[in-house]
Amino acid sequence: MELVTSKVLLKQLLDQARQSGTIGFVPTMGALHRGHLSLVERAVAENGAGVVSIFVNPTQFNDPNDLLRYPRNLDADLKLLQSTGCRYVFAPSVEEIYPEPDTRVFQFGSLETVMEGKHRPGHFNGVAQVVSRLFDIVKPDRAYFGLKDFQQLAIIRAMVQQLQLPVEIVPCEIVRETSGLAMSSRNQLLSPEERENAAVISQTLLKAHRLAGKLSVGELAGHITQTINQNPFLTVEYVEIVNDITLQPVSGWEEPGTKIACVAVWCGKVRLIDNIVFN
Ligand code: PAJ
Repeated sequence: MELVTSKVLLKQLLDQARQSGTIGFVPTMGALHRGHLSLVERAVAENGAGVVSIFVNPTQFNDPNDLLRYPRNLDADLKLLQSTGCRYVFAPSVEEIYPEPDTRVFQFGSLETVMEGKHRPGHFNGVAQVVSRLFDIVKPDRAYFGLKDFQQLAIIRAMVQQLQLPVEIVPCEIVRETSGLAMSSRNQLLSPEERENAAVISQTLLKAHRLAGKLSVGELAGHITQTINQNPFLTVEYVEIVNDITLQPVSGWEEPGTKIACVAVWCGKVRLIDNIVFN
């Protein structure tokens, strides 16, 4: 495994690697956990070479405090990656990725006016800026993204379509702690007590899955909100039950298409997201 910080060097190394097989890429912001590692293991298994990027992208943070507090630990990340068989770890500086400010404005229409897009203005534009730059450097055959960030996956697919990039986007299942809590780098910021209570989020979504069809869509969203808010450690920012392709709220179970419940919940100062697909 080789740590690379220069984009010019990484491009050279990957031009060589590409001659003997495909490139599988996993973009991350570090503070790696088993969720990230599941993506990396898949990228390694399904391609000639696996590449992971570790870059806390300033342009996607709408809250400066969130950027400051975001956990960073390159040494621990490298140790975790050692056992995955990943070939290159790209950990560039901010200047390496943004020699000058990125002024591009992407248009994702109704995909970005709901949920995370609505509550974190500018977030997905920043995600598209960095992922398009990383794709331009790595030129992956396949790129792996977690279903935990369901809306991000939809945005990335739209970006790939708009820019006509020759990359296959591979969605990967959510990895959870034993309690059901979706793994997240931000979980490190929770106190042990908060972490225990945060499990109520996924437990409520799992119960909601069993109630779907018995309650109306509106009633179920209300039920999820109330159940989570009853926990003194948790405050719901939004609960939306949406179509999995358009991400627009659904009004009835009889509507065509797969439905998914997406939530954002504050646990103390930490904002957590999770979702469950109704099928
Ligand atoms: P980050 O939050 O580090 O996540 C990197 C990738 O890991 C994303 O595709 C995310 O969906 C996936 N992931 C995180 N937790 C997961 C879990 N519990 N199970 C499965 N997959 C999980 O998402 C980002 O970084 C950034 O926005 C990025 C795409 C790197 C652009 O900066």
